[in-house]
Order: sequence, then C-alpha cells, then structure tokens
Amino acid sequence: MKRILITGGCGFIGSNFIRHMLKQNPDDRIVNLDKLTYAGNPANLADVEKDPRYLFVKGDIVDADLVKDIFSGQQIDTVVHFAAESHVDRSITGPAEFIRTNILGTFNLLEAAREAWLKTPAPGVDASEKGCRFVHVSTDEVYGSLGETGAFQETTPYDPRSPYSASKASSDHLVSAYFHTYGLPVLITNCSNNYGPYQFPEKLIPLVINNALQGKSLPVYGDGKNVRDWLYVIDHGEAIRTVLHKGRVGETYNIGGNSEKQNIEVVQTICDLLDEKTGKLPGGKDRRSLITYVKDRAGHDRRYAIDATKIRTELGWTPQVTFAAGMEKTIDWYLSNKAWIASVTDGTYREYYEKMYGKS
Ligand code: NAD
Ligand code: DAU
Repeated sequence: MKRILITGGCGFIGSNFIRHMLKQNPDDRIVNLDKLTYAGNPANLADVEKDPRYLFVKGDIVDADLVKDIFSGQQIDTVVHFAAESHVDRSITGPAEFIRTNILGTFNLLEAAREAWLKTPAPGVDASEKGCRFVHVSTDEVYGSLGETGAFQETTPYDPRSPYSASKASSDHLVSAYFHTYGLPVLITNCSNNYGPYQFPEKLIPLVINNALQGKSLPVYGDGKNVRDWLYVIDHGEAIRTVLHKGRVGETYNIGGNSEKQNIEVVQTICDLLDEKTGKLPGGKDRRSLITYVKDRAGHDRRYAIDATKIRTELGWTPQVTFAAGMEKTIDWYLSNKAWIASVTDGTYREYYEKMYGKS
C-alpha cells in the first residue's frame, strides 16, 4: 500500500488522475492537497469524496509547515505533484502567482520530501529502496517552440518563452537538482496539451465548446495555424501511473498524443460535432460561422510536438484514445454536464465551497 500525496487534485488533470488511481490501485491511500484557486473545484471529485481511501486537505503548497505536517502525519511515501498555475494567458497578464506557486511551491514540496525521506527516520537508507517516489508533472512548453518539422525529445534543450513555461522550467530544474544533489528519488514528466472532462473553460477546447453551445463567438488567436499535440486526459493519467510504477528514478519522460492539429482544425471539429449532436444554430447557421480571428497571444509558441519513443519503448505506454474518439467523449461529457459548466462559468461553485472551506 502506498500513501500518496497528490497536489492540485481538484484541478482538471489531478481530479481525473485521482479517480483513475482509486480504480486501478485499490490498496493505495490518497491525500489531495489543493488550495482551491479559481481552477480547483472539489465537485470534480464529488463521486469519491466519501471514499475511505481518499482525504482532501484544503491548503497551499507554499505553506511549509502544512506540507511538513502532511508528510509526517500521513506518512507520505509518494508524491504526484500537479498543483500549479496552468494557464499561459493568465501568466502574461499576472505572472507573480506563477512564480510563487510553480517555483516556491515545488521547492517547498521537495524540501518536505527531503526532510521526511532522506533525513528522518533513518539517514543513509536509500529512499527509493524504501519505495519513495516524487513524480513532478510538467509540460512540453519548457522546450520552447518548433518550426514546421521535428519533435521535442527528453534531450531537447530548455527554451521556455512565457512566464508560465519559464516557471515550470524552473521547477523542473529544481526537481532535477534534488536528484543530483541529495539523491531524492524524483521522476519528471513533460506532457503535451490535454483535453477531456472537467477542464476549466478558459482553455481552448472547453472554451470553444461552451461558447459554441451558447451561440457566442469563438476566438481564434492569430492565423489559427499554431499546432498543439492533443492527448486525452485519461491517457495522460495512465502515463503518469506507468512512470510512477515503472519509471527509472532521476529520468525524464515525454508524454504526447501523437495527434498534432492546427487550432483552427480543432475549433472546426468542435463546431461540426456540436451541429451534428445538437442541431445547427437558430436560423440554420453552422457553428463555424461563430469563428472569429482575434489578436494573437503575445509570444505565441508556433508548434509543439512530442517524441514519446522513450516512454513507449522503456515503459510500454502508448495513448489509447484517438483524437476523434476523445473529442466525441469530451463533447458528450460537456453535453451531459451542463450544470457543471454553468456553475464554473457563473462562479456559483466558488460561493458554495467558500462557505465550506473558507476563501482562498
Ligand atoms: P488546473 O489549473 O486545472 O489545476 C491546478 C490545480 O492546482 C487547481 O486545483 C488549483 O486549485 C491547484 N493549485 C493552484 N495553486 C495551488 C497552490 N499554491 N497550492 C495548492 N494547490 C494549488 O491545471 P491542470 O491543467 O490540471 O494541470 C495540472 C498540472 O499539469 C500542472 O502542473 C500543469 O503545468 C501540468 N500540465 C498541464 C497540461 C494541460 O494541458 N492542462 C499539460 C501538461 C502539463
Ligand atoms: O502544452 C501543454 C500546455 O498546454 C500546458 O502546459 C498548459 O497548462 C495548458 O494550458 C496548455 O497550454 P496552451 O497555451 O497550449 O493551451 P490553451 O488551451 O490556452 O491554448 C491552446 C491553443 O489555442 C494555443 O495555441 C492558443 C490557442 N487559443 C487559446 C484560447 C484560450 C486560441 O486560439 N483561442 C483561445 O481563446
């Protein structure tokens, strides 16, 4: 049985991961530490909140005393670290919180793990032999922007270009330094763009689904030809589970969907699927008519693509859900969970949880 600290488990990927872990690893215990920022929503885990294997702690990863108490009180032997400020556009308008959470928060977790696993109770005992592991969940954006060809490999030099990706790159370097300097048993994953259920509707796919359902305009930045490599969120969860169980300590694993698309293709796919599933707009117009080209994102990375050879050949992981199947599932989920989108977009979910847990 593992005692796993999952940070940021009320967000998009973390909540899908917790549900996946409880199904796949029934003996493990999970502590979810989440600050409940605008992106954290305990409703994402309403179906597991009473599970005796699951404990939610509302708190900030930057709070060193709290994190230390969780390590000792819950005898944590595994960390899967998702908590972060994750949205590139927000990092452009307000970078400070990205520096605080993504860099200082990661540093704090590393220090707590070092203290708990390497200094006490038995100095000199190899933490990885005791089964301790710290998985740091990161992004392909640390590698920068690609031209027309090529793909990011684990050896690609870092070249982050937004405050978000610079803060993630910084956290990756700290994690790696704790391996080389102290022997902390860390693993790093760098993943491409995720999509699926419970994604906050500020990111491209849920934003476009939500706006298209309401007949609102669909903002496409620049010429719409920027390319992202899309991965269904449960495939990402299984990749992280694989790295956790089979990955080599100190290594980095790139994770990708092998599914490169231009943004405009993604937006058109959503429009066509919604027209098919719900009928066209009033007046018989296609949803594609809502597409509006808007001012480009500052420093907009042109293309990301992942070479996932290492995780495939060393650990046997490959994505299971094609882009077409994943988009169907995602759109069906948003159509069946309109109350979730409504509460997230009108902010009522915050009022409810602030009454329960206090303001963040
Ligand atoms: P998200 O924004 O949906 O969720 C982030 C979660 O972290 C929220 O629940 C939030 O409340 C919590 N959080 C934020 N600051 C905190 C703090 N100081 N203390 C405790 N909790 C805090 O993010 P996501 O899209 O689920 O991404 C999760 C992780 O995966 C991030 O580290 C991100 O960099 C990485 N990642 C995301 C993608 C993607 O496509 N979304 C791809 C690759 C990697
Ligand atoms: O590559 C992994 C990264 O993917 C993660 O590390 C980040 O946490 C995650 O947010 C995501 O970053 P992106 O910036 O690629 O995702 P976003 O959904 O914001 O944008 C996807 C693409 O769509 C990007 O090229 C910008 C464009 N876009 C986005 C929005 C919100 C638009 O054209 N219009 C929009 O309204």
